Amino acid sequence: MKLTYEGHSCFQIEADDHRIIIDPFLEGNPLAVLKPNKVEVEAVLVTHGHADHLGSAIDIAKKNDAPIIAPFELVNYCIERGANGHHMHIGGAFNFPFGRVKLTIAHHGSTTETGAVGNPCGFIVEMGGQTIYHAGDTGIFSDMSLIGELHDIDYALLPIGDNFTMGVADAIVAAKLLKPRVVIPMHYNTFEIIKQDPKEFKDGLEGSGIEVIILEGGESVEAP
Ligand code: NI
Ligand code: MN
Repeated sequence: MKLTYEGHSCFQIEADDHRIIIDPFLEGNPLAVLKPNKVEVEAVLVTHGHADHLGSAIDIAKKNDAPIIAPFELVNYCIERGANGHHMHIGGAFNFPFGRVKLTIAHHGSTTETGAVGNPCGFIVEMGGQTIYHAGDTGIFSDMSLIGELHDIDYALLPIGDNFTMGVADAIVAAKLLKPRVVIPMHYNTFEIIKQDPKEFKDGLEGSGIEVIILEGGESVEAP
């Protein structure tokens, strides 16, 4: 399993000749190296409707003939704009050809330029024998310990940018609730308002037994 950070909250996950992308904010994202027209994936997962997550999802889905996998109302929005979609909702899981996806809660909003598109979510993705938790945009919540109990998380992808989501201090506690093997910070430094030092996050988890990996846009980690 190979996990590549594409800046902000965007990740590509590859395993066994399958590739998916989550929250493809690649246009107008100063940290993104990847161009939307270069993306080759079999599914596009989107946590919520905000432009810094939905990004180029509809164009990528259409070009790749790949479904948008997201909460029900957001999938409808994408279908109305010509994409294919697979409707899901919080708590539900489904086995796709590339792996298993489950939607988790996220405490945040979900709107597009036309209005609300249901609830935001996070994702548990199981691919290539690894379990990845992408928290989406959210504040900390105590049910993260339940998510950690239900899933043996290898990689937790957590926002640390503050202002719109958890900041560094809360994300350190969130990591301890989730108990992943590795945590990777996201949703910071894209804009001035979410500027953070990821080193502070790393230092805060020193001695916790959780490894912190800080990735730059375009960098990858591979499961051992
Ligand atoms: Ni958002
Ligand atoms: Mn966001």
